[in-house]
Amino acid sequence: MSEPLLDVRNVTLRYKTRERLVTATHQVSFQVHAGDRFILLGPSGCGKSTLLKAVGGYLKPAAGQIRLHGSPIAAPGPDRMMVFQEFDQLLPWKTVRENVVFALEASGRLKGRAADEKARHYIDKVGLTRFADSHPHTLSGGMKQRVAIARGMAMEPDILLMDEPFAALDALTRQQMQDELLRLWEDTRFTVLFVTHSISEA
Ligand SMILES: Nc1ncnc2c1ncn2[C@@H]1O[C@H](COP(=O)(O)OP(=O)(O)O)[C@@H](O)[C@H]1O
Ligand SMILES: [Mg+2]
Repeated sequence: MSEPLLDVRNVTLRYKTRERLVTATHQVSFQVHAGDRFILLGPSGCGKSTLLKAVGGYLKPAAGQIRLHGSPIAAPGPDRMMVFQEFDQLLPWKTVRENVVFALEASGRLKGRAADEKARHYIDKVGLTRFADSHPHTLSGGMKQRVAIARGMAMEPDILLMDEPFAALDALTRQQMQDELLRLWEDTRFTVLFVTHSISEA
């Protein structure tokens, strides 16, 4: 077997609130290899989002280790892009294209023409070319999630982290988005760590 891209080993994650200490995950281990579609499946409250936040670098393990390419994760970075459940993860005053370009430029990934071309490429991949100059408030929930996916993919991260990205969509749109994501994966073979509580979605 090749080296895993992501190695989560015996990871315990805790929240300290004023009243108590919440253990969100207890000694969780798994490995994700390049090109994997890796699913974290479990009921609400079992610690999926917390694990994803830790892989994102937003939370430090109380015990255990999370390694990417063999190095411990210390902070958030453009090598791990997150797509959330909420529709409001876009900047409302920027267009679809500007949202994607902004991520590329702010992270230092690409600038100017190159950023613009990369944005157009991925906006096309999610079928939103006609809406590239639209603002988020004029789009449906499914379209906004497509923008968030395009933005995540345009960054060409080592791993795309998706936290129930379709959970707030209506059933038909959700199914359509699931099919689209599979097609995108067949096309691009990116590495994705996907969180869901739905067995059928998994
Ligand atoms: N910010 C927080 N502060 C305190 N407890 C939290 C916080 N976020 C989540 N938790 C608790 O951690 C546990 C795991 O939550 P979460 O990772 O959101 O689960 P899931 O995503 O699987 O539904 C739950 O018991 C939840 O109440
Ligand atoms: Mg969650």
